[in-house]
Amino acid sequence: MAIKYVPEPFRIKVVEPLRVLTREEREKKIAEARYNVFSLHAEDCYIDLLTDSGTNAMSQNQWSGIMSGDESYAGATSYFKLLEAGKDIFNYSYIQPVHQGRAAEKVLLPLFLKKGQYAISNMFFDTTRAHVLLCGARPLDCVVEEAKNPAKRAPFKGNMDVAKLESLIKQYGPENIGLVVMTITNNSAGGQPVSMKNMRETAAVCKKYSIPLDIDAARYAENAYFIKRDDPEYKNTSIKDIIREIFSYADMFTMSAKKDTIVNMGGMIGIKDANNPVIINVKGNCINYEGFISYGGLAGRDLEALAIGLYEGLDEYYLRYRIGQMEYLASRLDDAGIAYQSPVGGHGVFVDAQALFPHIPYNEFPAQTLVVELYKEAGIRCCDIGSYMLGNDPDTGKQLKADFEFTRLAIPRRVYTQAHLDVIADALIEIKKYAGSIKHGYRITWEPPILRHFQAQLEPIK
Ligand code: F0G
Repeated sequence: MAIKYVPEPFRIKVVEPLRVLTREEREKKIAEARYNVFSLHAEDCYIDLLTDSGTNAMSQNQWSGIMSGDESYAGATSYFKLLEAGKDIFNYSYIQPVHQGRAAEKVLLPLFLKKGQYAISNMFFDTTRAHVLLCGARPLDCVVEEAKNPAKRAPFKGNMDVAKLESLIKQYGPENIGLVVMTITNNSAGGQPVSMKNMRETAAVCKKYSIPLDIDAARYAENAYFIKRDDPEYKNTSIKDIIREIFSYADMFTMSAKKDTIVNMGGMIGIKDANNPVIINVKGNCINYEGFISYGGLAGRDLEALAIGLYEGLDEYYLRYRIGQMEYLASRLDDAGIAYQSPVGGHGVFVDAQALFPHIPYNEFPAQTLVVELYKEAGIRCCDIGSYMLGNDPDTGKQLKADFEFTRLAIPRRVYTQAHLDVIADALIEIKKYAGSIKHGYRITWEPPILRHFQAQLEPIK
């Protein structure tokens, strides 16, 4: 049954016109892009669901902040405003701005991971996985089993499998595990949240073996909303207090601020304990790679918008509308019998492409096949979160098989309306009708060695 749409807690003041190409034009464009949507021009996409990262609409307060941003090289007012907001919300002693999430990873991860070591996560996102590999270490995913069954509705499917975490630590030896990373929400598992209990238990295991715990915090506010919604113990706790408790269990965080803080560019590193000796090295790496400590690769105006967005992202009415968009789109797919990672997660709907194309094997990339069909059908751009994104085994060079083949419809914040969501649902319903007639997927004709999905070239298998 279709659920009611939660109305927008804002109205629209500025618009960005869109154009719609014909199906013939789109077929030509996607072939020219060698079936890689990252090579499409944005103006050729009608609804752009490639990512919810940096594609958000800022508020009038944030745009005013852009005008008052302080562009001083050192000690800018906007920097101190960001520090205050970061310390207040996360209750951490040290906050370091950086230009985006992977910059935080580049600065922090080499301080904990050396060649031959391992990092364990409930699930690494692609850039975090890449940075672990760049350190010469190996990433190990450790998500709960129910996450691997998209049809199974269970709360907190983003959780760490705590028993498995402990057995991996014993198997490889605690001295060889440089870092444990808790990704909230768990992006690759479908934007699925992590429970407070799981956070607590994971922290206890890390403490037992003296392994530092890092939060990959891109979607911390959406995660907090799920805790409030689904854990009765937190039903009367404010979003901010939930966030403070989550972060109290970790030692540090790396954050892409391009998501839940509703800006177009930004990132942060947080260190809980003021006496943590790693702070000095974070500062050093930041100066080398990002820029001076008080701007970290961002313009003063970006710091200002970020400081304001940190608070806007906590607003409960906004979060209810935000998650409500996912719930609405998911309910339309339920009505049409289209499978997705359920219950729906925080920043998008992850369609189970393997269920739609059961006859297409993982090494012909069923989720990428659906990505191409959605573009051809309705000019919708989205991405594969499956074997195509996962890539090859770094040791054997063989194609890895992902635990799931998701086509991710990532929804930018405060950007698309209910009517846009209906176009997306209608396109999927149309594709479902002819899915059986698409006999084969795609093969890769060229790929780079790391993060291949951004640049690879493909062709349809005849
Ligand atoms: N961690 C998570 C969980 C992410 O989702 C991302 C980015 C990053 C780290 C890296 O941050 O892009 O600011 O450098 N995710 C985007 C996405 C790109 O589409 O999901 P970044």
